[in-house]
Amino acid sequence: MSSKKPIGGGRGARFAGEMDTAASALNASIAFDRRLLADDVRGSQAHARMLAAVGLIAAADADAIVAGLDQVAGEFARGERALDAALEDIHMNVESRLTALIGEPGRRLHTARSRNDQVATDLRLYARAAAAELASQIDQARVALCRQARKHAETLLPGYTHLQRAQAVTLGHHLMAYAEMLARDRGRLLDAARRAGQSPLGSGALAATSLSIDRAATAQALGFDGPTHNSLDAVSDRDFAAEIAFACALLGVHLSRLGEELVLWSTTEFGFVQLGEGYCSGSSLMPQKRNPDIAELLRAKPARVIGDVVTLLTISKGLTLAYNKDLQETQEPFYDAVETARVSLAVLPGLIASLEFNTERMHAAAQDPALGATDLAEELVRAGMPFREGHEIVGRLVRRAEEKNVSLRDLTADDLKLVDARLTPAVLKALDPARAVAARTVVGGPAPEAVRREVARLAAELEQLGFAV
Ligand code: ARG
Repeated sequence: MSSKKPIGGGRGARFAGEMDTAASALNASIAFDRRLLADDVRGSQAHARMLAAVGLIAAADADAIVAGLDQVAGEFARGERALDAALEDIHMNVESRLTALIGEPGRRLHTARSRNDQVATDLRLYARAAAAELASQIDQARVALCRQARKHAETLLPGYTHLQRAQAVTLGHHLMAYAEMLARDRGRLLDAARRAGQSPLGSGALAATSLSIDRAATAQALGFDGPTHNSLDAVSDRDFAAEIAFACALLGVHLSRLGEELVLWSTTEFGFVQLGEGYCSGSSLMPQKRNPDIAELLRAKPARVIGDVVTLLTISKGLTLAYNKDLQETQEPFYDAVETARVSLAVLPGLIASLEFNTERMHAAAQDPALGATDLAEELVRAGMPFREGHEIVGRLVRRAEEKNVSLRDLTADDLKLVDARLTPAVLKALDPARAVAARTVVGGPAPEAVRREVARLAAELEQLGFAV
């Protein structure tokens, strides 16, 4: 009987024929929504148990559905059975195979449900798991940064603004800057996951259902905080996907900054760092090359994720309530954002641990006495001078040193007197970078003492999360 046919693409009895082949290829989402297999099965199992609990299907039917779905999931996951593009999407593939396996109970599963609330539910489950997983990967990267920062709490290097040497800082402080960025990225992902915390299941195609289902029960079974509160909104908004993609894009922007610094620092010109062999590639032509491909890819990958965010927002803009098929197009950019963040984060702990810093070169670069100009001005402030005046005087000292073609540190007592009668050579001690950095102990400062404080704070947070730092 035609009504007993598997419901390919959800067309049912209303259609006499099949969809046009080219149209069907355009329409099918199975090539990418296969990622939802496990979430789709979980959602269906929760739905079936709820249907039995409220008496809409028999308990024995629910048992058959739950067990059948386990089998379907296993077959597809292990590749024993191929997903069928003619069945359009993951939802139809799962349901159709289920019905082939268990017969009539399978045909009861779609009671009080539409693929619209189903896919919205699957995507939120995917989003929440992805956010948690990315957060944990971020934590592993933070562990690696924390360890390197602890090791290099005292290592001096120039800090830069405009990529010009500015003031000496510590390498630990520099590395901990990335830990700060990652902490915010983690927070953004988990915030977005929290806002995706309501279950759309039971919203139906757009207008819920007249059958008395228990939405709170399915929400709870799936780990949501509760059900969504508007069926039209629940089936038609992908804001949670856009938020997570944005969090991935911004994370990527941060990783791209790290990537760029590693590329720059590993040049012969800088020579501040060597990346572990496992994170470099050679050249097929030039035998001496050691190329920082992985750092370059950390720099490049976010470009695509930024594009994913734009794609997601552009698809979503101007869509009328409620479901529109356009929403299917939000899936690929969403997966791409998550998966790109995942592969990028996966290299970080090993890459960071592999970094061998050339501390002597950094130290030598930090000896540049010009880096102490600000510290010298602050020394004059300590002696009671207004900062603007101190700034002015140091400016004149810098010019004097340039005229004589000597470093600030080599100015004589006469040079100092010439610039300002109150200056004695003792003020020049402020130019010593180690001393200058050690004095910047203020909260958020680069002094070794301040870095150790921040490292301890981060280590305590990570240990709370179960990591050994
Ligand atoms: N593959 C579809 C999507 O991702 C599932 C929902 C289909 N619903 C429909 N009314 N055609 O949006």
